[in-house]
Amino acid sequence: MSQIESVLQETRLFPPSAEFKGRARLSDEGTWRRMYRESIDDPESFWDRVARELPWIEPYTEVLDWSAAPVARWFGGGKLNASAVCLDQHLENGLGNKRAIIWEGEPGDTRELTYAQLHAEVCRLANALRARGVQRGDRVAIYMPMVPELAAAVLACARIGAVHNVVFGGFSVVFGGFSSQALRDRIEDGGCSAVITADGGWRRGSVFPLKAQVDEAVAGNDSVHTVLVVRRGENEVSWQAGRDVWYHEAVSAADADCPPEPMDAEDVLFLLYTSGSTGKPKGIVHSTGGYMVGTYLTTQYVFDLRPEDIYWCTADVGWITGHSYIVYGPMANGATAVMYEGAPNTPHEGRFWEIVEKHGVTIFYTAPTAIRTFMRWGDEHVKRFDLSSLRLLGTVGESINPEAWMWYHQVVGGERCPIVDTWWQTETGGIMLTPLPGLTVTKPGSATLPFFGVDPVIVDEAGNELGTNEGGYLAVRKPWPSMLRGIWGDAERFRETYWAKFPGLYFPGDGARKDADGYFWIMGRVDDVINVSGHRLSTMEVESSLVSHPAVCEAAVVARPDEVTGQAISAFVSVGPGVVAGAELKATLLAHVAEEIGKLARPKEIRFTDALPKTRSGKIMRRLLRDIAAGREIAGDTSTIEDFSVLARLRADEE
Ligand code: WT7
Repeated sequence: MSQIESVLQETRLFPPSAEFKGRARLSDEGTWRRMYRESIDDPESFWDRVARELPWIEPYTEVLDWSAAPVARWFGGGKLNASAVCLDQHLENGLGNKRAIIWEGEPGDTRELTYAQLHAEVCRLANALRARGVQRGDRVAIYMPMVPELAAAVLACARIGAVHNVVFGGFSVVFGGFSSQALRDRIEDGGCSAVITADGGWRRGSVFPLKAQVDEAVAGNDSVHTVLVVRRGENEVSWQAGRDVWYHEAVSAADADCPPEPMDAEDVLFLLYTSGSTGKPKGIVHSTGGYMVGTYLTTQYVFDLRPEDIYWCTADVGWITGHSYIVYGPMANGATAVMYEGAPNTPHEGRFWEIVEKHGVTIFYTAPTAIRTFMRWGDEHVKRFDLSSLRLLGTVGESINPEAWMWYHQVVGGERCPIVDTWWQTETGGIMLTPLPGLTVTKPGSATLPFFGVDPVIVDEAGNELGTNEGGYLAVRKPWPSMLRGIWGDAERFRETYWAKFPGLYFPGDGARKDADGYFWIMGRVDDVINVSGHRLSTMEVESSLVSHPAVCEAAVVARPDEVTGQAISAFVSVGPGVVAGAELKATLLAHVAEEIGKLARPKEIRFTDALPKTRSGKIMRRLLRDIAAGREIAGDTSTIEDFSVLARLRADEE
């Protein structure tokens, strides 16, 4: 699990302020208990009441059908359209002139789109996609910078019933994104027939060429008939006539009238690829009705959303956080959301706080790794700006260490904003464990309590429920509306990964404990997934990439704690005879991994060894490598190790 160890033992409790509580959507303990109990004892009536708040085209006839478990069927018989939930209903309710998106480009350009404007853009784009032959059920890959057209692209797919498959367009708080090879894999696995991209996007003062990546990714792929290109970077692009189309030309030629396609509640809304414990990334499948109900409700309660809020989630739409909490959840609630294109330190380290001040952001949602980065840069960059508009802070992606929590609370939140530490995953679609900000007394480092309808339990290896503070596996007992419906094209892997370890329980892959107050403390992944800056990477994926280089014989990849990124990748590599293991080979291997998977998968360190430590049955002893990587004393039983000299040499290598 190897997460950063906390030096600070923060045992104080942090209740919401009287002021926050006084205005909060939910602040009464009794009401919350009743609601939570109902959501567990009678989920169908609880979710029925929530779902009725959405604009259904045709009502559902059944709330939940769990008879084909683990594939849930929520709101069966109902028809709706996710883009109409996000847009049309607000126009009908007189909110057409409310801002949907306040956008900041990295170079300092800004744009605002009202709900009416976004609606028109989405309708035109939807018609443009149709004119190019994209039909209901087709898959469309989206590989874009953080520009408003990205939100429009997602919603336009939803409008015509096409399945979007967003691939992270290359930027995040800490590092660059996927390689064209990774993009190719995702386009091919999803069977995408169209791609929406941009010429380039701004990152750290220069333009990152996205179209060139797409060209490489679709070369030789005859299934992709259309590449729609947003002009953003103004950089040179190569052009394939017949296939490539400028977004602005297609959209301006299209009609603004596009009635939303009535979709079945269980029709697939999107695929989103994430790393699992085996090599190949898996396409997580989310369906329409349950996902919309889940993201609608969580956004409302977790962020205590009010009509006048200016809400900013700093994630990229390429991750589930951006899907659920930039696009679908906030827009289903008619919120005003800030979107920022670029790096947090361009042109200066106070950029985020400048944006908060400039737009009067009231709700701010980011990742612990970003918070630790800001801490390092120094308080002065935060204090230069007026952050008094902020009233609520959130985090997601990994456990937040108490030091970072306290800094966030004091320096950013001015000690007045509740912090919601939200635990969830690509697979869960929406937030699962979280404080309710007007109610929950928070403890730094704990994601606290389950959200409505979530029934978590800590179990041992055999699936037996564990007692207070006993660390074990986190599992979930009941289906919830926004849960994944499968892995694209691999029903068996879906069962195997999430439902086989503990029959009848959903297994998310995390370890956790529950304290005497029933608060959950996430202890990190228990599978071979590394969480670098809140992004998932599979050890096997990185290992396969390393061993695919001709110089490498064997590779083992483990996580080690890192002060900024939470976990970092450590690779142990043995090389073939005659190969010189040194700085040059290290650089070559890093470039090789960047090429195959993406920069984010590059190991932070590579240690060369002539052999990896193995058990007598030939298994690489990862536990041991983790200890070595973390610089810890080697713990536990090493009696099964095959060759002690290997171990001695690895240790000596550190000196
Ligand atoms: C994994 C999911 C959910 C969007 C971001 C990542 C870890 C996520 C927390 C948290 C402790 C967390 C878990 C989880 N994680 N949030 N608040 N506390 N751990 O989505 O890429 O699907 O990764 O991130 O290990 O399983 P993802």
